Amino acid sequence: MGRGKECYPNTQHPTSFMNIPFLNFDKRNLEIKAEIMDSFEEFFDSNRYVLGPKLLSFEEEYASFSGTDFCVGVSNGLDALKLSLKVLNIGEGDEVIVPSNTYIATVLAVTAVGAIPIFVEPDVSTFNIDPSKITEAITSKTKCIIPVHLYGQPCKMDEIMDIASENKLFVVEDNAQSQGATYDGKRTGSFGDVNAVSFYPGKNIGALGEAGAITMNNKAHFEKVKVLRNYGSSQKYINTLIGYNNRMDEVQASFVSVMLRYIDSWNDQRNQIAKKYELNLKHIENLILPEIQNNAYSVWHQYVIRTDRRDELQDYLKNNGIGTLIHYPIPPHMQECYKELGYNKGNFPIAEKMANTVLSLPIYPGLSDIEIKYITDSIDRFYK
Ligand SMILES: Cc1ncc(COP(=O)(O)O)c(C=O)c1O
Repeated sequence: MGRGKECYPNTQHPTSFMNIPFLNFDKRNLEIKAEIMDSFEEFFDSNRYVLGPKLLSFEEEYASFSGTDFCVGVSNGLDALKLSLKVLNIGEGDEVIVPSNTYIATVLAVTAVGAIPIFVEPDVSTFNIDPSKITEAITSKTKCIIPVHLYGQPCKMDEIMDIASENKLFVVEDNAQSQGATYDGKRTGSFGDVNAVSFYPGKNIGALGEAGAITMNNKAHFEKVKVLRNYGSSQKYINTLIGYNNRMDEVQASFVSVMLRYIDSWNDQRNQIAKKYELNLKHIENLILPEIQNNAYSVWHQYVIRTDRRDELQDYLKNNGIGTLIHYPIPPHMQECYKELGYNKGNFPIAEKMANTVLSLPIYPGLSDIEIKYITDSIDRFYK
């Protein structure tokens, strides 16, 4: 490794070839297997498979974890976003501000309710929507801002909430990637009017299938979301709203309930891994490491580095047995499905540059010190 730099762990270099997938659940699964099996058995024996006691208790647990009054379990993160917009009556012709570098689901939710996505560029140092650029994107049609806490780092929620209240806009946090993160000591998913979260398997709390949730403090919104996710009905065969079937399965509720007991310790492990990556990689010129704001606790959903030699580095790591991913290779405004929005290459240069330079390294509970060292040694070798 050379150059007399500090590195972690301070042991001998791993010499032999290792296979390190981008994501691996083996160690996490071992940790929770007995509790998951018990909760499955309880679920199985309960005779209650939809809208039962497991979902009710998970909703209470997740609201309390998020620091909100209410939580509604739903089918997945995209549906959580769609229902969040629906409950706020956002629809046809309304404009909704979204970051230009988000995962496509944020934008799909906006167009699914008939609204128009208005893209605002991110701040390069945090990857999150740049609040200083939001005001100029607001028009008389703007109804809502969706800040996305990308890669586990909270957005600048104080500035975003101020802009929203000055302009009488709703805020829907897209908290899909940040369960447990805090900004000024407050959990993400508790700032906005209605907030969406995903429990897709690869998320920090990952169901064993599809699941999502909505968190909020307003009781009227809570009651309405529950009706919307259940065919628009609060009483069997009486339909008061045009609704959907967007319920979280009882079996998934029983699984995410178990995972919720572990999330703070898993997020802490992700923070430890991020520190080790930083220590071992910070000496490499031309490699930009992620930065976390002082008042934020990131839950490191992804560890995203930036380099102009991204594709070469990704190939090199692949040849050394290391899985990496690109989050995300094509920004939403350049996706074919949105060609009718009329954007071209060059319209959102920061998002486009990120799409060409970002690379996500493996980060998950159970990633061992020797694996971290193998990854950082391999990156070091690439640059030599
Ligand atoms: C930022 C963001 N928003 C929304 C979603 C949608 O969540 P889901 O996959 O549960 O529909 C995801 C995850 O896939 C995401 O990363």
